[in-house]
Amino acid sequence: TFVIALPCVDVKDRACIDECPLDCIYEGERMLYIQPDECTDCGACEPVCPVEAIFYEDDTPEEWRVFNSVNAEFFADIGSPGSAAKVGPFPKDHPVVAALPAPAP
Ligand code: F3S
Ligand code: F3S
Repeated sequence: TFVIALPCVDVKDRACIDECPLDCIYEGERMLYIQPDECTDCGACEPVCPVEAIFYEDDTPEEWRVFNSVNAEFFADIGSPGSAAKVGPFPKDHPVVAALPAPAP
């Protein structure tokens, strides 16, 4: 699967959403997350992110490796809705993301 890493936090450009043919990129409060069971590794999202936050899971930089599980664990209680547009943004983040310092005002 592809995953979204730290650069997305508090940026949320959302260009990736328009590219994903599976509509499997879901919105949290501070970043977006890829549903690993729904992503077919098409890779369309990766080049369009202006902050280069998207990686194939094996290529996630070492310092952001935790985001491989951050993306998967975000869906522990959500499961596989089948369409991000259908369910809309979720009012939560993975605990690792929620604990990051807030951006400068
Ligand atoms: Fe985030 Fe980049 Fe998508 S900033 S919302 S991963 S285009
Ligand atoms: Fe969608 Fe990106 Fe996967 S475009 S199918 S989330 S590789």
